[in-house]
Amino acid sequence: MDKFVIRGGNPLVGTVRVSGAKNAALPAMAAALLTEEPVILENVPQVRDIETERKLLAAMGADVELGYGRAQHRTTICCRDLVNPEASYELVKTMRASTLVLGPLIARMKRARISLPGGCAIGARPIDLHIKGLEKLGAKISQEHGYIEASAPRLRGTRIVFEKITVTGTEDLLMAATLAQGETVLENCAREPEVVDLAALLNKMGAQIEGAGTHCIRVQGVEKLHGARHRIIPDRIEAGTFVIAAALTGGDLQVSGCEPQHLDALLQKLEECGVQVYVIGDSIRVVGNGPLRSADVNTEEYPGFPTDMQAQYMALATQAEGTSIVTENIFENRFMHGQELVRMGANVKVEGSRAVVRGPTPLSGAAVQASDLRASASLVLAALVADGETIIDRVYHIDRGYERIEEKLRGVGAQIRRIGELLPKRVAVPGVAV
Ligand code: UD1
Repeated sequence: MDKFVIRGGNPLVGTVRVSGAKNAALPAMAAALLTEEPVILENVPQVRDIETERKLLAAMGADVELGYGRAQHRTTICCRDLVNPEASYELVKTMRASTLVLGPLIARMKRARISLPGGCAIGARPIDLHIKGLEKLGAKISQEHGYIEASAPRLRGTRIVFEKITVTGTEDLLMAATLAQGETVLENCAREPEVVDLAALLNKMGAQIEGAGTHCIRVQGVEKLHGARHRIIPDRIEAGTFVIAAALTGGDLQVSGCEPQHLDALLQKLEECGVQVYVIGDSIRVVGNGPLRSADVNTEEYPGFPTDMQAQYMALATQAEGTSIVTENIFENRFMHGQELVRMGANVKVEGSRAVVRGPTPLSGAAVQASDLRASASLVLAALVADGETIIDRVYHIDRGYERIEEKLRGVGAQIRRIGELLPKRVAVPGVAV
């Protein structure tokens, strides 16, 4: 298993470029299941979750072609001859977003067999709202041997009010509704930019969707969807992670190729902490040359402060003057990084859904373990300001969602290297032309 070895103390200076959003690319790839024609996706990040989704689609009989050279971030998916509408436990257990194929498979193939995802490091993460919504659209769903078995005639449009806001739940039902008969009205929808990006792709494929980005999305079902070409939006969480890295290390960093308005809540919070932030077109310049002040954070659905930035913010809070209260409102168990930060010298006390962080405390390098994707990012950030060497174990978590993070950080002055086996960049997957 790979590890990162990081020596702290260097301010990050220069320009770092943001990759495409993993959380937009995953539903976009699932959307290709809705048509027989090729869907060409640009700006797909080279991260492990995307590799997992390629395997998932290839196992169903899809042709998945990866670009190379200058086109290495392009993926072309053709789902003309789907033979096996099934997602196995082996794949679903490593990536819960595999459940995104459920809606498209039911809509196009009239049946699906998907492994139930089970528990997760950050909480229970049920998929009951996906299932209830698909049942309301007319699918018959049962559970057997750890799998969800679904079948349906043509889905029928209906009105669905989500009991709770769910990002992939909104995306799953949105995809299913595109091929349903008649109108579907989805209410209390997630408003994340990734939902808007998916709707944009689906509309290019011939869907009729209005209202993505608001709480109410209307879909007029169509008989068929066709192929399309689409560029995935930049990854706002990767961009936010670099922004915090610059603020934390007292650097002067240009985070380029992003959508700064997708990061409004984070940037406002950092200004409250005393960080200088300048937005220039698709770049954010962060200058962290003053002392950091504490500020409380409450995670919320978009456009609120993202739960996916909570762990990274906590690393910053350890270096801010005063007490920061970090409240996690989306997931029940998302403070595993707190204990690891304490091992590095932070003063973090977790009380239920709140973490109280008192700072600033000097951090010292230690051997720590990554527990989930964003928790690993927070440990990398802490290590960048820690005294001495930090060794982060289980960095496969970070490889799920950050493209070559060590190379990008090294390019702007960080002392970070990967040890252990090399990341398999181009894994040969049966059915996938590399
Ligand atoms: C997505 C993101 C993830 C992010 C999260 C919240 C992807 C691939 N992943 O995850 O990075 O952290 O949004 O912004 O886009 N819930 C239910 N029943 C359901 C579905 C969800 O109770 O059927 C609950 C969850 O347990 C959680 C809350 O709803 O408490 C929000 O989860 P959700 O928005 O669904 O997260 P994901 O879509 O899995």
